Amino acid sequence: PAKEVKIRDCSPKIQGQRVHIKGWLHEARIQKSVGFIKLRDGTGFLQCVLTGDLVHPSLHDVLIREATVSLYGTLTVPPPGKKAPQDVELQVDYWQLIGESNVDLEGIINTESHVDQMFDQRHIVLRGTRASAIMKMRSLAMKAFRDHFYDNGYFEVTPPTLVNTFCEGGSELFTLDFFGSPAYLTQSSQLYLETMIPVVGDAFCIAQSYRAEASKTRRHLAEFTHIEVESPFIKFDDLLDRIEFLVCDVAERLFKLDKDLLLTVNPNAKIPERPFMRMNYEEGIKFCRENKIYKSEENGVPVHFEFGDDIPEAQERKMNDMIGKPIFFCRFPHEMKAFYMARCPEDDRLTESTDLLMPGVGEIVGGSMRIANYQQLMDAYKKEGLDPSQYYWFTDQRKYGTCPHGGYGLGFERFLTWFLGEEHIRNVCLYPRMRDRCSP
Ligand code: 4AD
Ligand code: MG
Repeated sequence: PAKEVKIRDCSPKIQGQRVHIKGWLHEARIQKSVGFIKLRDGTGFLQCVLTGDLVHPSLHDVLIREATVSLYGTLTVPPPGKKAPQDVELQVDYWQLIGESNVDLEGIINTESHVDQMFDQRHIVLRGTRASAIMKMRSLAMKAFRDHFYDNGYFEVTPPTLVNTFCEGGSELFTLDFFGSPAYLTQSSQLYLETMIPVVGDAFCIAQSYRAEASKTRRHLAEFTHIEVESPFIKFDDLLDRIEFLVCDVAERLFKLDKDLLLTVNPNAKIPERPFMRMNYEEGIKFCRENKIYKSEENGVPVHFEFGDDIPEAQERKMNDMIGKPIFFCRFPHEMKAFYMARCPEDDRLTESTDLLMPGVGEIVGGSMRIANYQQLMDAYKKEGLDPSQYYWFTDQRKYGTCPHGGYGLGFERFLTWFLGEEHIRNVCLYPRMRDRCSP
């Protein structure tokens, strides 16, 4: 008799028990009189030992990496002093092959493979120790975000991602043919989310957003998971507080959910200190001028930033890395921001907007207060050169019971890249979609 168990349940508590475990051969080392298998079943890794009659030269052709097996045996606690990867190991007494593998696997990818090859073979790479740990952290992070919102009274909604309007300007749209009419893959669910605040109050959604980004960078995806929030009756400072609470609370939840896994992925993971630095765009311009961060160079002469200049990513990152802490970069001039953003009551040139910048990654959240007045919003459409008629369902919000409100969008993969200390955003995706990749 053997009890079927998962690796996560294998602890010294059930040592001596005969168990039955199914999984994949993460590593296999077959020697003359003993065989070592590192078994992977998705819940963890287990060292398994084959001895005696079970060891046979023919095992070399069968017990190879990624073969699926069913193992029977007894769990034992390795003697103290023996270098064992786990608290328990399995002394195998019987095994069966469920699915064979092939030695050509070693030739498909190895530690020297080119990154394009690695992403062509992403389905294999994902089984690796680090990639699988990242995928699990990604799952836990998704749970942490959801739990944060549910525990704080938000309702989740699921807006459409096939749309006929745009939210963040027309340049980065993927266009498609929707039964003969033009449509787009959504850039952001914000406009739909705004229509939900009279329905459910604080609303959030977790949906895919799409951007036909021409630039190929370490932080731009063509498809990303967008966590968006919209809240009625808040002020700009409340919005910043909520974003700060979200980021720190999710970090804290991840430590609680699986600190060990988190620290194996990123030994430097930390819950950021509150409050975050809050810096207005105007102060940012001053910071750049004072710290020799230049807009450009003309004939060898550095050109300083002036009020009204967009600070490009590279310079923004330099500022962020010099400061070395999360920064709420706030109150951008309206010309450089989306049409729907509310102006600052104290300065009409500026918007109540923010980008949350993280050292090493840059912007992970973008948010703002929204124009709540119908006529002001109509004027904003006019200035943008947009026909508001297709947006009637969005502008009606201001006609029938408007309210001050604001919200934000957090790039889930940007968050993970930052929190897990990854170099490149593609590493936290299942199958990344980027400028030069739509496969596999
Ligand atoms: O700053 P963005 O463009 O803001 C919006 O879309 C708002 N409508 C959100 C809202 O207020 N509801 O995008 C929000 C966030 C960025 O801060 C970034 O983290 C992420 O989405 N993001 C991307 N992530 C990966 N690849 C891309 N190409 C991204 N574009 C934006
Ligand atoms: Mg942005």
